[in-house]
Amino acid sequence: MTRVDLHLHLLPGIDDGAPDEATALEHAARMASDGVHAATVTPHVGSPYFDVEISEIHDRCADLQRALDRADIALRLEPGGEVYPGAAADLSAVDLDVIAHGPAGARWVLAEVPFAGVDDAFAVGLAEIRARGFGIVIAHPERATGLLTDGGLARLRPALEDGAVLQVNACSLMGRQGPEAQKAARRLVRSRLAYIIASDGHPGTRGHTLAEAESAAIAAGASAAQVVQLTQANPRFLLRHGLPRVDAPLPLRADGLRRARDAARRLRPGVRGCAG
Ligand SMILES: [Fe+2]
Repeated sequence: MTRVDLHLHLLPGIDDGAPDEATALEHAARMASDGVHAATVTPHVGSPYFDVEISEIHDRCADLQRALDRADIALRLEPGGEVYPGAAADLSAVDLDVIAHGPAGARWVLAEVPFAGVDDAFAVGLAEIRARGFGIVIAHPERATGLLTDGGLARLRPALEDGAVLQVNACSLMGRQGPEAQKAARRLVRSRLAYIIASDGHPGTRGHTLAEAESAAIAAGASAAQVVQLTQANPRFLLRHGLPRVDAPLPLRADGLRRARDAARRLRPGVRGCAG
C-alpha cells in the first residue's frame, strides 16, 4: 500500500502553492520518492485572497498530470479544492461537486477551519455543505485558535455527529505551525479523533511530504498500525468509498472510520479538550 495525500497545493500558479510547473514537478518527484503515489490537488476556493476559477480546476489538474507522466513521476492526481471558511453559502452544489471526491451518495469536500477559531458561522457553513448533499473532511482543525482551550472542538461536535471527519496537518504534528497547533494535533491523533493526516504541502514554501509526518505521529503516541491508517488506509478509503452518511451502512474495511466516529461520540456537550 502507498501513501495518499488529500490536502496539497500542487497546481502551479493558482494560489499560494506551487508558483510554477517546474516547482510542482520537483515537489511531486519528492512525494513519489517518499512513497506518496496518489493525491488530490486542493487549491483554495471561495477565498477572497485567491481568484481560483472552480471550472478550470479539472483541466489544470489534467495538464499537470500529463506533465507528471511526461516526467515519469509516479503520482496520480485527482482534482479537488479547499473550501474557504466563509464560502459555504456562496458555493452551489454544482461548484461543490467539481471539487468533491468519492462515489455518488458519499461524496465529500475539504473545508478549511478559520484560523481565528471555530465560530458558530463556520458550524453553520458546514451544515449548509451537508444540506447540499456532501460529506465534509475538516482541514487542519488544530490550526484553529482555541480548539482545545476555548470551545472550538465543542463547536465542531454537531458536524462530527453528522459524519464529518478531521484531517490533521503533517506540518502541525512536526511543530512547524507553532506549539498550540502541535499540541492540538497530537491530542487529535492520540484520541483517534483524527481520521487522516495530510501534508497541506505548498511547494516552494512548505516543501515537506506526507511521509515526513509519520515519525511525528509516532512521537504523538500513535501506533505504527494507526499511522498506516492515517496516511494510507483511511485516505484511500475516502477516495474509493467516499464518506458515507452516518445512517448509511458502512462497507468492509471501514474500521478507521468507525473508530473516528466512536471518538466523536465520546465528546460530551460542552467539552473543551479531548481525551488522551
Ligand atoms: Fe491548504
